[in-house]
Amino acid sequence: MVILSVTGRAPINIAVVKYWGKKDERLILPLNGSISGTLDLTHMCATTTVAISESFSEDQFWLNGLECSLSARFSIVLEAIKKRALENETIDREKLSWKIHICSKNNFPTAAGLASSAAGLACLVFCLARLYNIDGDVSGIARLGSGSACRSMYGGFVEWMVGECRDGRDSVAKQIIPANHWPNMAVLILVVNAGRKHTSSTSGMQTSVQTSRLLEHRAKLVVPDHIDLMRGALLQKDFQTFAQVTMKDSNSMHAVCMDTYPPIHYLTHVSHHIINLVHSINNYFRTCKVAYTFDAGPNACLYLLDDDLPTILSLIRYFYPKIQNVEEGGTDDDACRDGDVDEF
Ligand code: ADP
Ligand code: DP6
Ligand code: CO
Repeated sequence: MVILSVTGRAPINIAVVKYWGKKDERLILPLNGSISGTLDLTHMCATTTVAISESFSEDQFWLNGLECSLSARFSIVLEAIKKRALENETIDREKLSWKIHICSKNNFPTAAGLASSAAGLACLVFCLARLYNIDGDVSGIARLGSGSACRSMYGGFVEWMVGECRDGRDSVAKQIIPANHWPNMAVLILVVNAGRKHTSSTSGMQTSVQTSRLLEHRAKLVVPDHIDLMRGALLQKDFQTFAQVTMKDSNSMHAVCMDTYPPIHYLTHVSHHIINLVHSINNYFRTCKVAYTFDAGPNACLYLLDDDLPTILSLIRYFYPKIQNVEEGGTDDDACRDGDVDEF
């Protein structure tokens, strides 16, 4: 029995200018461009094995040890990969007809607002491209699986171009700076709640598109400014602009969630406590030392510079004394210290 298989790993990315809203649901075309930092492969990543064989009788998918049904998006991704392989004649036709088995595992919480769909779908597309010998950019195919996944195809800071073509051909990811351009940039992830979010990103942004007028304003006026400022800040390593735009853009996205009808509350009281703590720290030092950003979930992602890590970590440990390293079991919703962080 012949089995061809590929195993790969892909990291999550944390958006600093967020994607929230599609203009085309099937092609996953965004209302606005977005920018994120791709983490390294040390901590939060998806590991996926894809295998094809003549002896497999059906396509099957296991996620974190459980068999899951294959979604429509999976078929779209697989079809796009096979089409590319056929066009470029990278594999013989017979093998393209073999059924596929996919087994993936995340080493961090799935569907908790920590970009599992980005790491997972980027990893899947990376492995499929290897399996079918496809070269070149496949971020447009990763996009078809989950929008944010296209940005995890590259390291460093990456922009997902909004694109102009109706078929989505130019809605792809491009690296703005490699990781070594700003090597002392660090990310701290504070897991407030590792459980599955109540509203998936896909359905949350769908409701926002249908009901929020604020989203129109955000996509047309706010985000284009943020993209320009962010590109400049990254190229010049200007942490002050980087931090301010990051925090404002996160607040803008969550304001849209509040403006959605019925409103979507991804942030919890602990998330708001962290926001206040970050502003108090920055006020105290009279400069931005740290920036928060929240995806579609309560968990905080903090961007900061290496030199400030010990100070910021000790402050976080002071205000959240029950905090644990992920290796020790993560944090929980009641982990914050009572008291007014504004008094810091
Ligand atoms: P998140 O904030 O974690 O990205 P989403 O609601 O965007 O949450 O997406 C979660 C979904 O992404 C999961 O229900 C699953 O369908 C898919 N997903 C997550 N991890 C993987 C993976 N490793 N491989 C394939 N699909 C995955
Ligand atoms: C808040 O990429 O998970 O994390 O394209 O429907 O799969 P789908 O949604 P997804 O949305 C991510 C939204 C976000 C912001 C971001 O990553 O830019
Ligand atoms: Co996601």
